[in-house]
Amino acid sequence: MTLVPVDLFTETALVESVKSLREQLQHHGHRYYVLDEPEIPDAEYDRLFAELQALELAHPELSSADSPTRRVGGAPLGQFDSVRHAVPMLSIRTETDTLATGAENFDARVRRELGLTPADPPVEYVAELKFDGLAMNLRYENGVLVQAATRGDGEIGEDVTQNIRTIRQIPLRLSAGTKGNACPAIPPVLEVRGEVYMRRDEFEALNERQREKMALGAKGEKTFVNPRNAAAGGVRQLDPAIAAQRRLSFFAYGLGEVTAPAQGGPAFNTHFELLMTLKAWGFPVAEQTKVVRGAAELVAFHQYMGETRDQLPYDIDGVVYKVNSLLLQRQLGFVTREPRWAVAHKYPAQEQLTTVLGIDVQVGRTGKLTPVAKLAPVFVGGVTVTNATLHNEDEARRKDVRIGDTVIVRRAGDVIPEVVSVVLEKRLGQAEQFTMPRQCPVCGSAAVREEGEADYRCTGGLFCAAQRKEAILHYAHRRAVEVDGLGDKLVELLVDANIIRTLPDLYRLGLTSLAGLDRMADKSANNLLEAIETSKQTTLPRFMFGLGIRHVGEATAKALARYFGNLDAIMSASEDELLAVDDVGPVVAKSIRTFFDQAHNREVVEQLRACGVTWEEGAPAERAPQPLSGKTFVITGTLPTLGRDEAKDKVEAAGGKVAGSVSKKTDYVVAGMEAGSKLTKAIELGIKVIDESQLLELLNGSA
Ligand code: IVH
Repeated sequence: MTLVPVDLFTETALVESVKSLREQLQHHGHRYYVLDEPEIPDAEYDRLFAELQALELAHPELSSADSPTRRVGGAPLGQFDSVRHAVPMLSIRTETDTLATGAENFDARVRRELGLTPADPPVEYVAELKFDGLAMNLRYENGVLVQAATRGDGEIGEDVTQNIRTIRQIPLRLSAGTKGNACPAIPPVLEVRGEVYMRRDEFEALNERQREKMALGAKGEKTFVNPRNAAAGGVRQLDPAIAAQRRLSFFAYGLGEVTAPAQGGPAFNTHFELLMTLKAWGFPVAEQTKVVRGAAELVAFHQYMGETRDQLPYDIDGVVYKVNSLLLQRQLGFVTREPRWAVAHKYPAQEQLTTVLGIDVQVGRTGKLTPVAKLAPVFVGGVTVTNATLHNEDEARRKDVRIGDTVIVRRAGDVIPEVVSVVLEKRLGQAEQFTMPRQCPVCGSAAVREEGEADYRCTGGLFCAAQRKEAILHYAHRRAVEVDGLGDKLVELLVDANIIRTLPDLYRLGLTSLAGLDRMADKSANNLLEAIETSKQTTLPRFMFGLGIRHVGEATAKALARYFGNLDAIMSASEDELLAVDDVGPVVAKSIRTFFDQAHNREVVEQLRACGVTWEEGAPAERAPQPLSGKTFVITGTLPTLGRDEAKDKVEAAGGKVAGSVSKKTDYVVAGMEAGSKLTKAIELGIKVIDESQLLELLNGSA
């Protein structure tokens, strides 16, 4: 951390700096604590805070009761009832030092305060996780949960009982331990303190749901920056039903007010004993919680948890060390609002600021296009990050990430690094808004986004290098063209070794090209070549399915083969013609048409045929005459029996078209009850108006 050397300040510059830091902290504290919408990463906030703290320490004459350093949390929102805590909810001193010194300094301080000499034995500590959520006080009277309150400013919090009751991990009524497990009776008054948090998988799922809602145009919805903000937002919901959907969790780590031993309350000797009792009473206590001795073991715990924190299902931002003996805790006491017997030892932040160098578009195995921000390298969540996903076009535009922007990047757990938001105040250039390319950046085929979908996809499935593996695997599938024995691993091997680039290469394989491959004995090479040879004789439905056209499953492939009889007819069919096939709606028809419109895809099909892939081609199936072929209909008003979509489907199935508005090209207007302007227009233009029964007659070909 770089602090400005205090003695370099002139008197006025100093006053100005302190004032500015307080204002910034107040602003960001409000964004963070009250609105749950931070603008800067926590590490940045901490840095400003530490800077102010240092200045105030060096210049006590500048201290002021309303400084953000004098406040534990944010002001209550005012929407919930206020709760005065029976025992104030304190904060703990934080060591950000990532080296061993964080733990060593703490142990040295404790030993000094207790007057221990190097000859005395090591102090016993409880090492805990520092959960990244929000502190909660749960009050039980006679074993029943009567109130849950946030920390607020440490003295006065908010009553969020209704929301906290929705957290399944929090017992609503306590029972005195499991059978055979001696544990104290539940005291008449018991306040349990701990952290409400959201698991990472729940957080990802929540944001995914939010993105879907936004894609459907829902107003006022947003994604959340991190699990802590999502949890805090959930706890502060005025509607408990929404809080319940957040699926929050809880860990207990301490006590508030408790009936005194003299009045029949429990008497604990150590903090660990207290935690184990809470566990026995039904509270979740993290299993990593551990009793250790001396600084060296604290260091080992810090290091071990730092290495394994990615594997936890929730975020931690550090570990907490507490003196285990409650007697020694009392002896150590408090300094201002922090206990001398506990300290938080932090890890490198999981959110950082960096700059966007560019926006690339990557193509996934299945053709999905994903915009990815290229970042100035930044150390976040324990690794150096240079790429962060922007998910899709809508998301990239909503966050409005532009080249040159300063952004908050988050990386937690195994989750892919993500751009959380842009720091708009830092936008300098006039970089343009991101737009998704209309061509696949890998193969140049058309990239399309279907209605109701969030993603653009490359339509060059058979040709696109990004989709090779998936295309070959799908083609070789047992229910498609079937190449026995050509599975995941082998495809991976063949494509990575550049032996197969596109599907037809499969049929050009020989023993020599397979010879050098790892794990490929002569026998298996021969078996593979044999299976490839056998696959040449296939059927049209299998081949159609094997092409991997989006939305063309087995049933559709069969229906297409039955209807058209041969591949050329399918390849040249217009969308309208395709629509006549059972099982084929507008989305499927369009997808087939787009696929065969890509020259590269057609080429691959030709090459496959040239390589000897063959099937029996038939004549088109006997088709019922198409009674409405070439006719355009407009449907208006409410029909007596048919729904609007149903009528449309029937007309289309009979070869007709349905348009949305009446024009000279309209052949029939089908009018139901309460038909409006379309009917008037039809009469004006002299277009034939019919009712539902006349339509049904037309459909039967009897009119
Ligand atoms: S003990 C007097 N233990 O970290 C000691 N706090 O300032 C009170 N936290 O917001 C806190 N995990 O909510 C304690 N194992 C843990 C913790 C923990 C997370 C939070 C706490 C507070 C902050 C400490």
